[in-house]
Amino acid sequence: MAPADTPPTVPGQWLGGPGAPGQHSRSTAAPHDPAFLDLAGLEEQARSVLPPAVADYYAGGAETETTLAEATAAWRSWRLRPRVLRGVAAVSLATSLLGSEVRTPIGVAPWAYQAMAHPEGERGCARGAAAAGALMAVSTSASTPLTDVAGTEPLWPKWFQLYRLHSPTHTDDLARRAGQAGYRALVLTVDLPVLGRRLRDVANRFALPADLPLGNHPPAAAVAADSPVWTFDDIGRFAELSGLPVVVKGVLRGDDAARCVQAGAAAVWVSTHGGRQADPVVSSAAALPEIADAVGDEVEVYADGGIRSGSDVLTALALGATAVFVGRPVIWGLATGGADGVSRVLDGLSAQLAHTMALCGLSDVRSVPRDTVTPAR
Ligand SMILES: Cc1cc2nc3c(=O)[nH]c(=O)nc-3n(C[C@H](O)[C@H](O)[C@H](O)COP(=O)(O)O)c2cc1C
Repeated sequence: MAPADTPPTVPGQWLGGPGAPGQHSRSTAAPHDPAFLDLAGLEEQARSVLPPAVADYYAGGAETETTLAEATAAWRSWRLRPRVLRGVAAVSLATSLLGSEVRTPIGVAPWAYQAMAHPEGERGCARGAAAAGALMAVSTSASTPLTDVAGTEPLWPKWFQLYRLHSPTHTDDLARRAGQAGYRALVLTVDLPVLGRRLRDVANRFALPADLPLGNHPPAAAVAADSPVWTFDDIGRFAELSGLPVVVKGVLRGDDAARCVQAGAAAVWVSTHGGRQADPVVSSAAALPEIADAVGDEVEVYADGGIRSGSDVLTALALGATAVFVGRPVIWGLATGGADGVSRVLDGLSAQLAHTMALCGLSDVRSVPRDTVTPAR
């Protein structure tokens, strides 16, 4: 017999459509419950298969690692305020991101050098994201050329993330080719005017493996010493070059977000780059409300950094995000299980989100009211 507090049907079941987490039969520690996700255990498992310096490169942050250390705690400095008696029989996680339909508001953040984590590299990550109904942002620093990743699960939406490379013509060319290859948006990462100082990498004398392919980087001969720095004017310029909506990633201030929108950004992405750039900086959770207020309903707002549970996701949605992205959990998923590992992580977080929403009397990720959360104190 079911325990007394088990309802006859479980509200908040995933209604994300075909391929939803509940419908996968994968081998996990708890195959009956996709929401079971031990991310700390997964990182440990990833560390057992990766060279220590590579695992540290993925896990580490910049300088004192204060931003890195505070990221998850900042989401958890909010408390949920559940609504009761709302008749929530089912939860829908489906949403639209810049016009692309996805089955979950949890996407894959761009991360570099995926072949270093697993031989399937970006192609495996793309297959895992598609299986989970999640959008994937593909890094400029991918191991796999952007056209090959676009050709993996070609019908499933992907965005291309652009870095300013030391060859302006090559950077422009990547933007153009991303548009031609079928990416649905161009993500300009603007929080890396120079590389953050990542002290674990210095201590480990970390260097990329000599044979690691860099699918999109310019040939050494094209590298220029005087590549121009980006300004707000580049937002419109890249939109024109690529023919794609431009998302500006790495925004932490309301005034900057408003200027991005004025300059033509289709969305802003609140991010500390996983604590790998300036440090210590304001957490994404602390910056998000100010940024959501500054741009209002004009554009979509995304957030990442330290999101590790369904309740972290729900908090971000309540604070004004249309979607969130995850980095390291996906890295550990790919490293330990290739495409399946990626979809297990995303499915787990999605199932947790659906469950938490049901507990809070919410049925639709597209309408999570701000008063769903309140500061812990
Ligand atoms: C190993 C690693 C590589 C990354 N590479 C990129 C990148 O190539 N481009 C980019 O815009 N952000 C990059 N990021 C930042 C992520 O897109 C994202 O902002 C961050 O990982 C989110 O935080 P989380 O890892 O705590 O989920 C990287 C992050 C990590 C951990």
